Amino acid sequence: MSAWGIVVAAGRGERAGLGRNKVFFPVDGRSVLSRCLDALAGAAAFDGLVVVIAEADAAEYHALVAREGENPLVRRVVFGGDCRRRSVYNGLRALPAGVGIVAVHDAARPFVSPEVVQATLDSARAYGSGVICTPVTDTIKRVRPDGAVETLDRAALRAVQTPQAFDCARLLAAHARAEAENWDATDDAALFERMYGSVRLVTAPGAEVNRKLTTKADFDGLRHRAMRVGSGYDVHRLCEGRRLVLCGVDVPHEKGLDGHSDADVAVHALMDALLGALGEGDIGRHFPDSDPAYAGISSMKLLAEVMRLVRGKGFRVVNADVTIVAQRPKLAGYIPRMRENLAAALCTDAVNVKATTTERLGFEGEERGISAQAAALLEEV
Ligand code: CTP
Ligand code: MG
Repeated sequence: MSAWGIVVAAGRGERAGLGRNKVFFPVDGRSVLSRCLDALAGAAAFDGLVVVIAEADAAEYHALVAREGENPLVRRVVFGGDCRRRSVYNGLRALPAGVGIVAVHDAARPFVSPEVVQATLDSARAYGSGVICTPVTDTIKRVRPDGAVETLDRAALRAVQTPQAFDCARLLAAHARAEAENWDATDDAALFERMYGSVRLVTAPGAEVNRKLTTKADFDGLRHRAMRVGSGYDVHRLCEGRRLVLCGVDVPHEKGLDGHSDADVAVHALMDALLGALGEGDIGRHFPDSDPAYAGISSMKLLAEVMRLVRGKGFRVVNADVTIVAQRPKLAGYIPRMRENLAAALCTDAVNVKATTTERLGFEGEERGISAQAAALLEEV
């Protein structure tokens, strides 16, 4: 039994407020409509697709095809109507003779998975209809015209999406009657229910992300956010008569780290990782050790400065990882506090601090110094 898809793209996308029909809007360089057609074709389940566009968008559609190419599965492009129901009806009437199963899908749902498509088609083949749905997670209330509020039983509710697949002849008959009697409906299942009593609901992997792009916020959520990675490395000499400060924690030891500030080598490596990710040089440039303002200063204060720069440039820290290389003292007991200090400063819990020895090799192993390495990932906010 042949299966065709009808992709309705003939709305105006008013709620998205993008100044044009939302389905032509690019998401990461490719329009919502092209992405939707790619996803349907990727299911490898259709013999052909009919795309329904608004007459007012004809020029825009041609420009889109010239720019992004036309999916080879698209066999017909027809104009829609003044409501979604009429757009679907126009698509149905453009199908070739003999189509067994038809799936209607919103162009505004570009994240549809092959499993979702397959589940609706399988159900339509077996039972005459297959409508993808998800359980409802919000509690839903009915508000009566007099303002009285009633709580519905959530366990009995389903949120319904597209694709909605049907026996083609039956859906066409339901649409013909809906047109003749001017039925009002926001989806095809509603027409089918009214004509034949009920529909078959299905779920499948991917249904939870098969959302309809409707509002501006839906599009904002898809905006590509730049990611920046940085690495840092620092070494300080161990000497008598200095404190040993690592990640803002005073670690009791017979020696401490020498330096202009408190010589917190781990925080220095971390700051260099953050500055590296921002493309902002290194700590020497921002906090020169020739500047008396930084003499003896807590490196955690400098880290707070670096974080102001991170935020000022429009980024947040996704995660950070710091390795301290020291033969002695044993650091394991201090690591939870070190991690907490950094997590608070970086405004994320995704901070890892670890320590290692070098099996007595090199300057760390000979206890002449301590080194630290860090990696940090930033994301545009
Ligand atoms: N649609 C259609 N013809 C219409 C109205 C809607 O083909 N006359 C399509 C839309 O292009 C969309 C799908 O039906 O892919 C779901 O509708 P909706 O999300 O409401 O989209 P719009 O109607 O375009 O948006 P809005 O209601 O915010 O104007
Ligand atoms: Mg609409």
